[in-house]
Amino acid sequence: MEIRQLNLIQFRNYKRLEVKLSPSMNILIGENAAGKTNILEAIEVLSLTKSHRASDSSLIMDKKNLMKIKGTIQVDHITRKLEVECNLEGKKTKINGTNIVRIGDYIAALNTILFSPDDIEIVKGSPSIRRNLLNMELSQISKAYLSSYNQYNKLLKTRNEYLKILYTNHIGDEKYLSILTEKLVEKAVLIYQTRYHYIQRINQIISDVFHDIHSPLSLQIQYESNVLFSSFEEDKMKEELLKTYQKHYQKERNYGMTLYGPHRDDFTFLLDGKDLKIYGSQGQQKAAILAYKLSCIPIFEEQTGTKPVLLLDDVFSELDGKKQNKLLKYIGKDIQSIITTTDVKQIRKSLLDEATIFKVISGTVERKI
Ligand SMILES: Nc1ncnc2c1ncn2[C@@H]1O[C@H](COP(=O)(O)OP(=O)(O)OP(=O)(O)O)[C@@H](O)[C@H]1O
Ligand SMILES: [Mg+2]
Repeated sequence: MEIRQLNLIQFRNYKRLEVKLSPSMNILIGENAAGKTNILEAIEVLSLTKSHRASDSSLIMDKKNLMKIKGTIQVDHITRKLEVECNLEGKKTKINGTNIVRIGDYIAALNTILFSPDDIEIVKGSPSIRRNLLNMELSQISKAYLSSYNQYNKLLKTRNEYLKILYTNHIGDEKYLSILTEKLVEKAVLIYQTRYHYIQRINQIISDVFHDIHSPLSLQIQYESNVLFSSFEEDKMKEELLKTYQKHYQKERNYGMTLYGPHRDDFTFLLDGKDLKIYGSQGQQKAAILAYKLSCIPIFEEQTGTKPVLLLDDVFSELDGKKQNKLLKYIGKDIQSIITTTDVKQIRKSLLDEATIFKVISGTVERKI
């Protein structure tokens, strides 16, 4: 899938912008604070309806009260027009001019994989960052996952509230708790299975990608759940999950919250078998996250029948010239990529000649011919 055209109205430092993008590699060059990240953020919002780095209101240009992002998306031979409009009261999403109310009906219309400098937190930050990443990716490729995840969260909230009541009042209907637990388990299973298979698939790809863009070390992801499953077969999982809740019933009552389940999942990067967070250099950590994101491309394609759009923000910093070239060669022409950088001094001319280059200067984007 590709973004053919992007239009912005009063989005951050863009008063009005219309830009036509190439279906393969696009490189946006500009000085600091020119507006490069803002372009990728606009595409992220068009894809996921929200930005990972900011609240909706900060996306609106200073002193204005409305912003619009419009994109023309091409998937095979179908063209769709997507639109996200945000004002101080709220947000609207449209496909081909029709309002889309349910996020599940909108979210797969434009699939993106974004690499941003904040992504170093995937290695260094808290488990919730890694869970959010999995949720964001899996929601794009599986409607069933998104729906189970939303229902799980609602049930989790209710169950937590009820455990709190049991904790404070020391009495309560335990039958109600077991109904909630059973419902929670139903939804948890699909979340666990989807995450497990996804990470398993990434592990089949990620070392080769890391090799191609960085160095020939093994890179693996270790999925960590606080429930130990003997298999990922549905009935067995349900049984083992229920047993976990039974076993820790008193503990959960004492804490007044649900302590076990996929909302406590995590994963670790292992570089040559060692924890990347502790042993990895800055460059290795960055390359590992990049390898992870690039590994998601074939998986997205397997699941949706089309490649996502690849967004790489400030990707060359911390990579030496050789690795910058390796990365661009790896990405190639068969996927639409939008790459931002302050300069391309270290990039080979033959690679640059194949890309479409844009200059970003204080809220304007100009194509270089
Ligand atoms: N709501 C807003 N209204 C107006 N301007 C904004 C708004 N939010 C951010 N900006 C401006 O956008 C610019 C930052 O843009 P952006 O983050 O895209 O820069 P960049 O080109 O990625 O820079 P760098 O190379 O430093 O990463 C800043 O000048 C900032 O003041
Ligand atoms: Mg930036």
